[in-house]
Amino acid sequence: MRTPFIAGNWKMNKTVSEAVVLVDELKAALSGVPASSVDIAVCPAFVALTSVKPALAGSSIKLGAQNAYYEPKGAYTGEVSIGMLTGIVDYIIIGHSERRQIFGETDALVNKKVLAVIAAGLLPIMCIGETLAENEAGQTEAVLERQTRDGLVNVSPADIAKVTIAYEPIWAIGTGRAATSDDAQNRCAFVRAQVRLKYGDLADQVRIQYGGSVTPANAKELLAKPDIDGALVGGASLKAGDFSAIVKAVAAQ
Ligand code: 13P
Repeated sequence: MRTPFIAGNWKMNKTVSEAVVLVDELKAALSGVPASSVDIAVCPAFVALTSVKPALAGSSIKLGAQNAYYEPKGAYTGEVSIGMLTGIVDYIIIGHSERRQIFGETDALVNKKVLAVIAAGLLPIMCIGETLAENEAGQTEAVLERQTRDGLVNVSPADIAKVTIAYEPIWAIGTGRAATSDDAQNRCAFVRAQVRLKYGDLADQVRIQYGGSVTPANAKELLAKPDIDGALVGGASLKAGDFSAIVKAVAAQ
């Protein structure tokens, strides 16, 4: 019912020329994967987008950005507008935990960005997830409920299926310590239940990714879970062999 979706978040890695090399490697590694079996995207740094875009031609790999600002233009030094990305990317990651934790992004800002991405005709990947302290304090569901609710304010029923939600427990990011597949499934099912409270059965059309130390070794088990519709991959997305192995793990299911 939901096409699985694997996205690579390259974070602040790869120069422009390195990004093009990685894309060439990915195209070769993924050439045998039927486009109908899985949606694939890579999200390089802003400066690499216009070089990666033509390099992706002829493949089914889509392009995403890692962030954007919601204002259309103006005196926002260092920011990139969604309009500037239109025609280049299909997806924009919004509210990654690194944006929230290092750059102070709030649920209210995340919501403005989600709405602006949808208004521009692009597809947001809205990230949510609890810290280790919140997890250990038993606050995970409260955090996920708040982030899901506040991030989706004023997103209409007609648009909700355009949103991908990435559940990324912060303690699992870059640590090599992924959530167990059962825990990840339970959290993703909880998030879907939150979406269902507001949007009813449209929740069944919303893709929910898991992110946090996804590797070729754990991808198959995670992605076999019914409420995990894909993965947002960090470190392993920087290696063509690893990323393509993750894609193939879901494409084969
Ligand atoms: P890792 O896969 O490196 O843990 O990163 C996950 C992530 O933050 C993807 O957005």
